[in-house]
Amino acid sequence: MMERILKSDLRGRVTKDGIRLYDRSDFAGMHAAGKLAAQILDDIAPFVFPGQSTGVIDGKITEMVEANGATSATIGYKGYQHASCISVNHVVCHGIPGAKVLKDGDILNIDVTVIVDGWYGDTSRMYAAGKLPRKAERLIQVTHDALFKGIEMVKPGNTFGDIGHAIQAYVEAHRMSVVRDFCGHGLGRVFHAPPNVLHYGRPGTGAVLEEGMFFTIEPMVNLGRPETKTLADDWTAVTRDKSLSAQFEHSIGVTADGYDIFTLSPGGKFHPTYGE
Ligand code: MF3
Ligand code: CO
Ligand code: CO
Repeated sequence: MMERILKSDLRGRVTKDGIRLYDRSDFAGMHAAGKLAAQILDDIAPFVFPGQSTGVIDGKITEMVEANGATSATIGYKGYQHASCISVNHVVCHGIPGAKVLKDGDILNIDVTVIVDGWYGDTSRMYAAGKLPRKAERLIQVTHDALFKGIEMVKPGNTFGDIGHAIQAYVEAHRMSVVRDFCGHGLGRVFHAPPNVLHYGRPGTGAVLEEGMFFTIEPMVNLGRPETKTLADDWTAVTRDKSLSAQFEHSIGVTADGYDIFTLSPGGKFHPTYGE
């Protein structure tokens, strides 16, 4: 009986699309988790330079998570063993940190998810090792701005299709492509929950946004074609045509009249955080 009451209470806070609605008081928990993830992305910048290995960068991130008394959401997640994903050049996402050494002109996404008091903060941004090539700079700028085109659509009454469409239209207007094989996701007291937040779509389609929804928007944009493939390690996703790929990710909450970004850079460094 207790259990039945509990379940029906939960149902009351979940939309017909299966999306959980959080309370006003839950925003504080998300802010704490998001802030730590973003602080780590600020603090890791000096460790990104030509000659550095992605494994050493990840080791620093592990130390930072522990030094803050937080937990890495990715260590142990579906067998993943690292505190970050580091995706270099044509790697779209889920790059595994390790022996790979950065060289001058490489671009990379670093994606960190931490758990603070049970709340998940998930964010990623772009870095460059050494001198940033011109076409990579353009890709990074368009990807960053596309994320914010999506974020600007976040308010009650708009739909997830409105978010996806805004991102896709912006990216394609710049003759780049949106990756279809990966999407953003609900999060909160769990890492991945409904809905799938697509970075493409048609206006007015998909679930309607409501106050109290928590989710990520994390578009991956390619200079070439959108298709990806996953390498034999079962994690690393790369562009099929080997073209450069970029990504930015924020964790966001829907407020009464718009959005609240949980993972803003404390140092104002979100876009982009170049090495040193
Ligand atoms: N942080 C990634 C995301 O944005 C998920 C990484 S899962 C991992 O959803 F296991 F690859 F780390
Ligand atoms: Co995410
Ligand atoms: Co992430």
